[in-house]
Amino acid sequence: MTSSARRYHITTFGCQMNKADSERMSGILESMGFEWSESPDDANLVLYNTCTIRDNAEQKVYSYLGRQARRKHEQPDLTLIVAGCVAQQEGESLLRRVPELDLVMGPQHANRLQDLLEQVFNGSQVVATEPIYIVEDITKPRRDSDVTAWVNVIYGCNERCTYCVVPNVRGVEQSRSPQAIRTEMEALAQQGFKEVTLLGQNIDAYGRDLPGTTPEGRHLHTLTDLLYFVHDIPGLERLRFATSHPRYFTERLIRACAELPKVCEHFHVPFQSGDNDILKAMSRGYTHERYRRIIDLIRSYMPDASISADAIVGFPGETDAQFEKTLKLVEDIGFDQVNTAAYSPRPGTPAALWENQLSEEVKRDRLQQLNHLVSVQASERSQRYLGRVEEVLVEAQNTKDPTQVMGRTRGNRLTFFPGSIDELKGQVVSVKITEIRAFSLTGTPLIPALR
Ligand code: SAH
Ligand code: SF4
Ligand code: F3S
Repeated sequence: MTSSARRYHITTFGCQMNKADSERMSGILESMGFEWSESPDDANLVLYNTCTIRDNAEQKVYSYLGRQARRKHEQPDLTLIVAGCVAQQEGESLLRRVPELDLVMGPQHANRLQDLLEQVFNGSQVVATEPIYIVEDITKPRRDSDVTAWVNVIYGCNERCTYCVVPNVRGVEQSRSPQAIRTEMEALAQQGFKEVTLLGQNIDAYGRDLPGTTPEGRHLHTLTDLLYFVHDIPGLERLRFATSHPRYFTERLIRACAELPKVCEHFHVPFQSGDNDILKAMSRGYTHERYRRIIDLIRSYMPDASISADAIVGFPGETDAQFEKTLKLVEDIGFDQVNTAAYSPRPGTPAALWENQLSEEVKRDRLQQLNHLVSVQASERSQRYLGRVEEVLVEAQNTKDPTQVMGRTRGNRLTFFPGSIDELKGQVVSVKITEIRAFSLTGTPLIPALR
């Protein structure tokens, strides 16, 4: 290791928002002359971008941090940073718990990393968790992929789901302007990116906080309008968006997805529970009947659409009968993928204070049952691909088999097929599917002779 090069390492926990923030923070560090270090132990600057959605996500951070804090005693020039949602949630108290920390910064401060580091290098221990208006990101993120990219369209969340820390740690909704989003996407297209996923915790809220309404009183800027606005960017071949909230999902959006060829037929719409009383206790603002109608509507426009979701089992007070309704919903819908979780009481959320908490054992048992059903269904859903020709956007080499490349179908199924990454990266290849598994596919490319 050369002593002059300043090396940084970032470990990222949590959701796509955090991954997108980490990419921007990497970009800032590289513009300051830092070089990437795969191992935290070889780095002079270690940043943990943290998640607090469930207790186990948070505990993981403390064990990683402990190790680096000890290292700092031997290497005092190590800069140690906690960013993201644990930083926001814990703030000052993180410094008391880990006094070796140099910087504690909430997610709204990600774009300010350079400023904050300058204060650290001037000898201060810094906590940046006050709510701010997020400044436009003018640096160039260091993206993990060079084929697919995330683009934030709305930060924060104004919902108050009774189990969820996100509004506490990510703040109120702030939409970026359609022009700023388009400009970022045009730059991505010029750099050769082929797919963009538009991101928001509640992406259906996009534009509500931007000025302007139509003569009918509708907001001037909605997610649907945004899709039309960015759709013609040359070079980009695929668009996705996440996460959709069933409370605000509109037929207008579904129609736009059906109409716009670049928008992939994949919808991530969390339902959380199949029982109306639990949904009410969660403050989700919809019933399972409404949820089912949305999925029916999506399928009436796009019969083959992939549907994925998030679900929580063992919410306070959930009875066996109520849990059965979640199983029933999953059985009826036929999801391509469901991210499942056992309810975890989070500090600062209403449901954590309720007395009707369930035992860990009940939660674990329900989680197992649901996971089993989800993977059985995913296998069934994979069946429809067998023998079909799918468009696969090639992203990378198959890490387990270098003679193969990997990419995704429009429906977001991971797909492997024989080929060279140097030739195929970033290309959309027609692949005949020959093997299926619950969450991935294998096939043979139908590459025209002259390509
Ligand atoms: N904005 C998205 C999800 C954000 S958090 C939505 O509204 O659906 C991602 C997922 O984590 C949630 O969908 C939920 O399933 C899960 N989750 C959030 N808080 C949780 C908690 N306290 N315990 C268990 N799972 C939780
Ligand atoms: Fe959390 Fe609900 Fe907001 Fe999703 S919509 S981030 S679950 S508060
Ligand atoms: Fe976790 Fe924060 Fe995302 S709590 S799920 S990283 S918004």
